[in-house]
Amino acid sequence: MKVLVTGGAGYIGSHVCKALKQAGYTPVVFDNLSHGHKWAVQWGPLFRGDILNKEDLDNVILEYQPSAVIHLAGSIHLRESIEKPDLHYENNVIGSLTLFRAMVKHGIRSLVFSSSAAVYAPPEYLPMDELHPKEPLNPYGRTKWIIEQTLGDFHKAYGLNSASLRYFNAAGADPESEIGEAHDPETHLIPRLLFTAQNKQSHFSLYSDSLDTPDGTAVRDFIHVLDLASAHVKALEWLKTHDSSSAFNVGTGKGHSILEVVKKAEEITKKSIPITLAKRDIAEAPTLIADGTKIKEELGWAPLHSSLEEIIQTAWDWHTKGSLVRR
Ligand SMILES: NC(=O)c1ccc[n+]([C@@H]2O[C@H](COP(=O)([O-])OP(=O)(O)OC[C@H]3O[C@@H](n4cnc5c(N)ncnc54)[C@H](O)[C@@H]3O)[C@@H](O)[C@H]2O)c1
Repeated sequence: MKVLVTGGAGYIGSHVCKALKQAGYTPVVFDNLSHGHKWAVQWGPLFRGDILNKEDLDNVILEYQPSAVIHLAGSIHLRESIEKPDLHYENNVIGSLTLFRAMVKHGIRSLVFSSSAAVYAPPEYLPMDELHPKEPLNPYGRTKWIIEQTLGDFHKAYGLNSASLRYFNAAGADPESEIGEAHDPETHLIPRLLFTAQNKQSHFSLYSDSLDTPDGTAVRDFIHVLDLASAHVKALEWLKTHDSSSAFNVGTGKGHSILEVVKKAEEITKKSIPITLAKRDIAEAPTLIADGTKIKEELGWAPLHSSLEEIIQTAWDWHTKGSLVRR
């Protein structure tokens, strides 16, 4: 069975492709390589195209006849979404709409969508289940929430079935170091800490130590990209027997503060990571922790690799070995 993977040359998409291949699927990567990498496409063909372009979508679907789509392509930078919301609404919302229309046109009825914990309002209770109020803090989160709602409407109108996976904080790398996180610019916590440990930057900027959390720094739910990838395979299987448009949290149910992650990174890398305090200029929730009951009960998925040790160790292996070979 062929699966079209938009954004499959990116960080999470490439790990999803490896998991698909291991589960017996053929991933067909559809990516414009604006932020992805050719070297990350190793488990199926690469079709260079843009989700904003109807003809590109028609062509890839006609050429490969995929039975389902996993949709990860999009703009991911939160700060950029505040500074240039038009770009994010275009790439994420219009791009997704163009893809969904192509799926309806060609009779493809199953979609797994990369959503985000950014759809939620600041926590009214913890851990947050899927029914928690939605009120995204930034345009990035709003694009994800608009797309999820569009999927609900497409289900009712056109019978498009979908599973939206609300990722919490994706981290870690392929344990075989064939692929890993290689964003440019890199805004995510763990790679930035590891760059500091490697002396590629002089210090790590901590945006706040005065949040309402035990040590004052943000608390996040980190999910290993390997676990995230297996959730996509489970969602694809679930879609084979469910006529639905549904959303699932993908997290561990445990939170780690930024200071805790810094200490663990120092322990694993055996390097000291100097920290400087920087002014926080973007609103952020003090704590985000997933309630994973729904995905466990309905998809039979649970994280297996998401201890902080395994996340940081695999990321460090990638940063020190794998990424050197690839870049
Ligand atoms: N990384 C996280 O912690 C996290 C958390 C929640 C949600 N997500 C979502 O997961 C998805 C993947 O994130 P990632 O970290 O792998 O990002 P990434 O930037 O590594 O991957 C995104 C890929 O999409 C491609 N792309 C972008 N616009 C495109 C377009 N118009 N047409 C075709 N391809 C296009 C890029 O070239 C890139 O390869 C994104 O939708 C992101 O919003 C990520």
